[in-house]
Amino acid sequence: MPIDILYQLNGKIIVGLGSLKYLKDIVNKLNPQKIGIITDSNVASIYRDRLIQIIKSIGIDAYIILRSGERVKNISTATRIWKILIKKEFTRESLVIGFGGGVIGDLTGFVASTYMRGIHYINIPTTLLAQADSAIGGKTGIDMDGKNLIGTFYIPNAIIIDPIFIETLSTKQLANGVSEIIKHGVIASNSLLKMLENHHEKILGKDLSLIEKIIKSSIKIKLNIISRDFRERGIRRILNLGHTIGHAIEKATEYRIPHGEAVSVGLAYASKISEVILGFDETDRIMGILELFGLPTKLPVKPYRLIDLMKLDKKNWRGKITLVLMRKIEEPVIKEFTEGEIRKVIGGING
Ligand SMILES: NC(=O)c1ccc[n+]([C@@H]2O[C@H](COP(=O)([O-])OP(=O)(O)OC[C@H]3O[C@@H](n4cnc5c(N)ncnc54)[C@H](O)[C@@H]3O)[C@@H](O)[C@H]2O)c1
Repeated sequence: MPIDILYQLNGKIIVGLGSLKYLKDIVNKLNPQKIGIITDSNVASIYRDRLIQIIKSIGIDAYIILRSGERVKNISTATRIWKILIKKEFTRESLVIGFGGGVIGDLTGFVASTYMRGIHYINIPTTLLAQADSAIGGKTGIDMDGKNLIGTFYIPNAIIIDPIFIETLSTKQLANGVSEIIKHGVIASNSLLKMLENHHEKILGKDLSLIEKIIKSSIKIKLNIISRDFRERGIRRILNLGHTIGHAIEKATEYRIPHGEAVSVGLAYASKISEVILGFDETDRIMGILELFGLPTKLPVKPYRLIDLMKLDKKNWRGKITLVLMRKIEEPVIKEFTEGEIRKVIGGING
């Protein structure tokens, strides 16, 4: 499959097997004053040799390895990185490269966008979730009280998406990424959903050409939506399908449940609520697809706990809770609920 070159505003997205080879050229063109790489301990050990190769080929001034997992996505890690960059005399003409999953991407993007009001940034996502979803769209962030409550919109100079990294993901991590791809299918592409339904075994078996195909299709769906509403004032909100409940689950379980799994439960509940409110009639199909990938569909916490946390969601407006629901596949609808209404509808659903 050919390597695709896509654009979001003035940032390049290079997608396809082998795309990592473009890194050196991109860095040369940027000609940064200093270069830092940020990754996590898991990725640093799995990709030790590849990272050494990269470091040799572009030459770096700071190599920052964080603990892996959502819990580092906070202000103290951001502060630690800012301090390293200051100490190493990074200027506005410097570059940071994020090399890892969605946590590394969100955090590196946040640091890049705030250090000296914004420095060069390249994102190399290495999980399916990050390649098919989180690296796209320019959202950066850290968690504080609620999920991603502090953050910026910042477009990297380049995003290099090489599906070769999927080879080392566990089945659980792979499924975690499929959850966001299912979301894109439900929102905008029945044919993507069919591909997931018909080829789940090959996808779980890490057939890289098929995985490349679903990544590309997922990216195109997201780019199409964000090109119409970059700052999420309108249509982009549909990308939050499953996320109001998902984020509340992550927070309630102190991030022990990974993002994609929390979104999976969120998708299951969004379907059930859509059935009650809008007569959506494909709940069984959605639940079936989630289950094909071994993704969870049941709430891991009591509904009342969840509703308290849903009130903290960024999308809420005028004291109401906003949910993305489905009238049909490819027909998302944004609805606002009072706390009482949401308690009634979630309380009435059998987990
Ligand atoms: N910015 C956005 O638009 C957006 C969208 C969706 C999700 N997110 C964020 O993304 C994060 C979740 O991303 P994630 O699921 O990638 O989490 P993650 O970054 O924690 O990665 C998951 C695990 O996979 C490991 N890993 C990474 N690459 C690997 C590889 N190639 N092989 C083996 N292991 C590898 C990591 O070390 C980590 O342990 C959440 O913080 C979520 O809020 C952001």
